[in-house]
Amino acid sequence: QDDRISRIASTIRVIPDFPKPGVMFQDITTMLLDPKAFKDTIDLFVERYKGKDISVVAGVEARGFIFGPPIALAIGAKFVPMRKPGKLPGEVISEEYSLEYGTDKMEMHVGAVEAGERAIVIDDLIATGGTLCAAIKLLERVGVQVVECACLIELPELKGRERLCDNPLFVLIKSA
Ligand code: PRP
Ligand code: HPA
Repeated sequence: QDDRISRIASTIRVIPDFPKPGVMFQDITTMLLDPKAFKDTIDLFVERYKGKDISVVAGVEARGFIFGPPIALAIGAKFVPMRKPGKLPGEVISEEYSLEYGTDKMEMHVGAVEAGERAIVIDDLIATGGTLCAAIKLLERVGVQVVECACLIELPELKGRERLCDNPLFVLIKSA
């Protein structure tokens, strides 16, 4: 395994009982304070996706907005924000998804992507997979091919990978 990955993993802070008791919160903000770890993270994704004919990097609010844009710039793709409801000013399509308690909605601008484009979806972390699943559905509804979802961190115990059905998922770090 690439030794950049263990270094990146060592910069991620784990905060117990945030936002509620029992959750071991994986905090990527400490990784962002380490310019080498941040650059290595972006480089690892860029190395994976450069030259793969990807024209769309879709980033999920909020932390997909940190990682998506530098990857998009480096591979020569557009960046498309996938946002919480009511934030995007233009015409949107939206997809509901379930949370632990209740539901949320994700929105994307109509016209940001065209049928036939090849996309990756970026976020910091996959837990139950509901968020990435909604992003995949939005892109597929408008005829975009989701080549892969990519996250820094997977929480394998929550089996989010299964919720993505057969969509490929690439992660740098698996965490308990
Ligand atoms: C977190 C995380 C992912 C999502 C993963 O975001 O950044 O986007 O949860 O969970 P899932 O796999 O169970 O769907 P959060 O909902 O906390 O929103 P935020 O980024 O706006 O803080
Ligand atoms: N970190 C960040 N986002 C999350 C986490 C976490 O540990 N669990 C669910 N969403």
